[in-house]
Amino acid sequence: MRVPLIAGNWKMNTTVAEALELVRAMKDELEKVISVEKVVCPPFVSLAPVKELLAGSTIKLGAQNLFFAEKGAYTGEISPLMVADLCEYVIIGHSERRQHFHETGDIVNKKIMAALKAGLKPILCIGERLEENESGKTEEVVAEQLSTALVGVADPDGMAIAYEPVWAIGTGKPATGEQANGTIAFIRQNIAQVCGGNVAREIRILYGGSVNSTNAAEFMQQPEIDGALVGGASLKANEFLSIVNQASIIKHSK
Ligand code: 13P
Repeated sequence: MRVPLIAGNWKMNTTVAEALELVRAMKDELEKVISVEKVVCPPFVSLAPVKELLAGSTIKLGAQNLFFAEKGAYTGEISPLMVADLCEYVIIGHSERRQHFHETGDIVNKKIMAALKAGLKPILCIGERLEENESGKTEEVVAEQLSTALVGVADPDGMAIAYEPVWAIGTGKPATGEQANGTIAFIRQNIAQVCGGNVAREIRILYGGSVNSTNAAEFMQQPEIDGALVGGASLKANEFLSIVNQASIIKHSK
């Protein structure tokens, strides 16, 4: 069975003090849920202090991005080695990076390769925009994003995928559990073609987009959905905790 994974993408929110406060507010309760992998992804500047606070904890740390070069004259960038020094996970190819920072499929591919080389577990984000969804192009778009991101990746060991339809992110209008399950099943079939059946059976595919404590159960009940990448609701300790608890109860009752 795939271990459920719930990751909180804090995006560009929280100062260091606020990040520490948020972790303190949920740490002890999150710690009790051992059947779900829990990951928090604060902004870069909070990674080191949060790591210190999480020493010895089962709560894992993820970054929200990295640059693909190992080091050098790239002012302002953070290398895979620097991220790997602090984190186990890294979010790559989030739609906000594709949209606001012009990350192309080729850049996403380079970042995936660099992250894997550094021993990080990438959470690769893919998902269609509203107009692509409305014109029936969802499968075409996610298949293209996936195959581009995985060029040259023979063994995506530890990697997870987050299916995040752009129209569901931050809108309060999530996909339905059934819709998300269907697209995620399609993504899994594609992975089977690109990486083989074993990888496809083992890889965790999450849903992301307006997940909260009220709708989490609908997604966790779906057989193809292995967890969630949570944005806004991960900034509230009780919400995140509730999502993690629901994942644990639902996934382990089957
Ligand atoms: P929201 O949960 O705020 O919609 O954000 C989802 C997301 O983008 C997670 O990466």
